[in-house]
Amino acid sequence: MTGQFSGKGSPPSATLQGRVAVVTGAGRGIGKAIALGLAREGARVAVNDINPDTAAATVKAIVAADGQAAEHLADVGNKMAVQTMIQSVLAQWERIDILVNNAGIEPKATVLAMDEWDWDKTMAVNLKGAFLCSQTAGRAMKELGGGAIVNIGSIAARASGLRDRSAYAASKMGLIGFSRECAREFAAYNIRVNVVCPGVIETEMTAHLRQNEAQMQKWLEDIPQGHLGEPDDVVGLVLFLCSDAARYITGQAINVDGGKVMC
Ligand SMILES: NC(=O)c1ccc[n+]([C@@H]2O[C@H](COP(=O)([O-])OP(=O)(O)OC[C@H]3O[C@@H](n4cnc5c(N)ncnc54)[C@H](O)[C@@H]3O)[C@@H](O)[C@H]2O)c1
Repeated sequence: MTGQFSGKGSPPSATLQGRVAVVTGAGRGIGKAIALGLAREGARVAVNDINPDTAAATVKAIVAADGQAAEHLADVGNKMAVQTMIQSVLAQWERIDILVNNAGIEPKATVLAMDEWDWDKTMAVNLKGAFLCSQTAGRAMKELGGGAIVNIGSIAARASGLRDRSAYAASKMGLIGFSRECAREFAAYNIRVNVVCPGVIETEMTAHLRQNEAQMQKWLEDIPQGHLGEPDDVVGLVLFLCSDAARYITGQAINVDGGKVMC
C-alpha cells in the first residue's frame, strides 16, 4: 500500500508505508518521539518546529535511523507561515496523509496575575495553531481522498489538577471541542480527527514541575501505574490513530496517563 487508504470491505492495516506526515513542535519532547515513530513505520515526516536547531536535530535522528524526513519551520500560530509550510510539504512530497498537531506551550500563572500576552500566546499556539494547520492540511487531504489528524491535548482538559494553568487548560479543552466539530465536518472527506491526552510526561515542558518533589509525590499517588510517562509512551496510540487500523474511530479524546484520569 503506498499512501492509499484501506476502506470498507478490505482488512485494515497499521502500516504507514508511503504516507506523508506533518508533525508540529517536533524538535523535542513528545513531538520528536512521534516524528521518529512515524518514520519507523515508513512515513515520510515533515518535521515542524519554531526552533531551527532542534528541528534539524530531529531530521538528523530520523535520517540516521534510515527514515525520511525534512525540516519545515513555521510558527503554527501564524497563518502565512502555516500556509507556506503546507505548500512546501506538498511541493516536496505531493501529498499529506497525516497531521499531528503537537506544538504547545504551558505558561504558569494565577488567573489574577496572568499577563494578557501569555493568555493570547497560549491560545495562538495550542488552539489557533491546530485550527490553522487542520484547515490548510485538511484542504489538501480532501483533494487527495482522505487523511488522519491527531491533536495532542492534555488530561488538563479532562480533570482539574495542576495549579495555575488556566490558559493551558482552556486551550486544551478548546482543542477537544474543535476536534469534535472538525471530525464531524471532515468525515465527509474521509479525514479522521482524534485527540490524544497525555498525563505528565518527562519532557522539558515538565522539568520545573518535576523539581517540586512534594507536588510530584502527591501526583504519583494518583497514578495507578505508579510512574510518570516518557515521550515514547504517547507514540503507540498516535501511530494507531494515524493508521487504517483506526479507520472507524473519529472525534475521540483518549487519555495516555497511566490511569490517572479514568473518563
Ligand atoms: N509533557 C507533558 O507532560 C505533556 C502533558 C500533556 C500534554 N502535553 C502536550 O504535548 C505537546 C508536546 O509537549 P512537550 O512536553 O513535548 O513540550 P516541549 O516544550 O518539550 O516541546 C514543545 C515543542 O513545540 C515547539 N513549539 C512551541 N511553540 C511553537 C510554535 N508556535 N510553532 C511551532 N512549534 C512550536 C517547541 O519549540 C518545542 O520543540 C504539547 O502540546 C503539550 O501541551 C505535554
